[in-house]
Amino acid sequence: MMAAVWRLFSLLFLIAVSRASEEEDIEAHRKLASSAKEGDVVAQFLLGQDYFWGQNGVKKDEETGLGLIIQAADGQDKGAQEMAGILYIQGHSDLIKKNVRKGVEYAEAAATQGSVKSMEALGKAFYNGTGLEHMREEGRMENSVRWYLAGAREGSLIAQADLADMYRLGKGTKQDYKKAIEWYQKVAANMDKVALASNPNSPPARANMTAVSKSMNNLGSMFAQGMGATKDFDKAISYFEEVMQSWLRP
Ligand SMILES: *[C@@H]1O[C@H](CO)[C@@H](O)[C@H](O)[C@H]1NC(C)=O
Ligand SMILES: *[C@@H]1O[C@H](CO)[C@@H](O)[C@H](O)[C@H]1NC(C)=O
Repeated sequence: MMAAVWRLFSLLFLIAVSRASEEEDIEAHRKLASSAKEGDVVAQFLLGQDYFWGQNGVKKDEETGLGLIIQAADGQDKGAQEMAGILYIQGHSDLIKKNVRKGVEYAEAAATQGSVKSMEALGKAFYNGTGLEHMREEGRMENSVRWYLAGAREGSLIAQADLADMYRLGKGTKQDYKKAIEWYQKVAANMDKVALASNPNSPPARANMTAVSKSMNNLGSMFAQGMGATKDFDKAISYFEEVMQSWLRP
């Protein structure tokens, strides 16, 4: 009997709590919508994401969400520009047709305001060239190096490893094996940190791991062949070994 009363009580309590949090969601949504309407770009971006992903008690409506995100991006919100850039560079469902030129414009606006994710995306988009056929290859590669360098200086392992590739291949810049080795080594030094990421299977953690493994493999090849450094098989082997050990980590 007591147990049944207790369970009923617990249930009523849970219902009351969830009602209260629903009401809080509704109130927060009302405030956000009103600020967004008054032209607050931060509110527009937050509300836009709520619609786009269907979160915080808002029913998913990608079109409304995208409209608000673009409004915020055009109002110079860095986060909104970053998201708009990636959505247009990649395309998204039937709603957003891949438009790399448009995406690059948003990404450049965000990167100019310091978005590292946009710097990485720009380096990749200019390197890849899909949708940027109006540019000469040389110009694309120079832009790619410029944004990889910006991201590398901000500490992005992805940009650092890709920048090292550009120096190794002589794309968008003079071929420079020494500089390639320097940047690869900077990335390679992060193996332990990257292996201990709290959420190792998330796409950003995997991208970091790929950057580190790629750098170590390339260092191994370069030291084995004496590219940009004296031939050193022991060093080459120790880089290859470390990559293999990373595969064996739990
Ligand atoms: C790179 O180019 C290929 C083929 O042109 C395309 O399928 C792919 O989506 C592009 N990747 C990026 C990141 O733009
Ligand atoms: C990836 O590496 C960068 C640079 O060290 C770091 O700031 C970021 O938190 C890492 N991402 C993940 C998911 O571990």
